[in-house]
Amino acid sequence: MTTAAAVAPSPVLEVRGLSVSIGRHDLLHDLTFTVGRGERVGLIGESGSGKSLTSLAVLGLLPEGARATGSVRLAGVTHDVVGASERAMASVRGNDVSMVFQEPMTALNPTMRVGAQVAETILVHAGRGKRPGADRAAVRQRVVALLDQVGLPAPAELARAYPHQLSGGQRQRVVVAIALANDPELLVCDEPTTALDVTVQAKVLDLIVRGVEARRSAMLFITHDLPVVATVCERVLVMYGGRIVEAGPVAEVFTRPRHRYTEGLLGASDLEGARPGKPLTTIPGTVPPAGAFPEGCVFRTRCRHATAECAAPPPWSSADPGHGHACVHPAGGER
Ligand SMILES: Nc1ncnc2c1ncn2[C@@H]1O[C@H](COP(=O)(O)OP(=O)(O)OP(=O)(O)O)[C@@H](O)[C@H]1O
Ligand code: SF4
Ligand SMILES: [Mg+2]
Repeated sequence: MTTAAAVAPSPVLEVRGLSVSIGRHDLLHDLTFTVGRGERVGLIGESGSGKSLTSLAVLGLLPEGARATGSVRLAGVTHDVVGASERAMASVRGNDVSMVFQEPMTALNPTMRVGAQVAETILVHAGRGKRPGADRAAVRQRVVALLDQVGLPAPAELARAYPHQLSGGQRQRVVVAIALANDPELLVCDEPTTALDVTVQAKVLDLIVRGVEARRSAMLFITHDLPVVATVCERVLVMYGGRIVEAGPVAEVFTRPRHRYTEGLLGASDLEGARPGKPLTTIPGTVPPAGAFPEGCVFRTRCRHATAECAAPPPWSSADPGHGHACVHPAGGER
């Protein structure tokens, strides 16, 4: 890990020119974006757009063998997205940044009681000197309080359970408790509720949002659920083919999309009667597999507005402050 300035500047996350290749395939292309302190940013796009790889790069969790260029600066520290020492990244993860992924079982240790797993996070944090000498009773009290905050019944008893003794929704609540335990500056959520029963999805989402709000943590929120982005996030990044094709305030992008891909994602009336769990509108054609995207605009094989001009990489343009896109024939009308 390379340490840069001692004083952490805003924003909490700053990604500059990040490109990632795995094997023969270039999977992420020149990503540049920021997440401000306390800001909630949505990351949307169809399956295979590169959303999860982006979150893994941010967390220094790219698979071995991945190659990356560009930089990721998290909470004032620039880290190597590939090859950062596990020790260095472990001190960042769970403290300055936490994550909630889709499948809670992969985030929990099946052989450890859930309370002990929450306690471990608190103790690792204390070990960094922020809360030295945390005694057992105080840690236990904090564990129970955290489990209570995420709406788990009888938290003192539940702390003694093993993950397999809980329901999927309860397990994800434990994961959320762990993620919020140390008041992270940034919470990265990758489809945090899609593996759960529909009846508990909205509840778990609500507690994530309330937890983030209470701590004034920033959030990078990956989801297929556009109505949720509309209610939870201030800004949105739209990804396709490993590129950010449009970015801006949610209120702007969702009402006046510029890139033809965003326009397709939103559909004519997708946000009307918005309700959680509503999937993305289908865009004609399918996302090509890695390595099979066209040259120039990556969306042009599926875009009915494509012309010869689209065979060259479209430049990034920004008609309104903070709202940019990479489309040479942008949509312009009010929706
Ligand atoms: N470890 C890997 N090795 C090789 N290719 C990978 C690896 N991980 C992801 N990819 C490829 O990178 C591309 C982006 O994958 P990613 O998982 O980031 O998509 P996503 O936007 O998160 O999709 P979904 O909505 O389905 O979760 C895909 O083409 C995928 O096949
Ligand atoms: S650049 Fe061309 S192909 Fe790409 S989205 Fe815009 S109009 Fe369609
Ligand atoms: Mg994914």
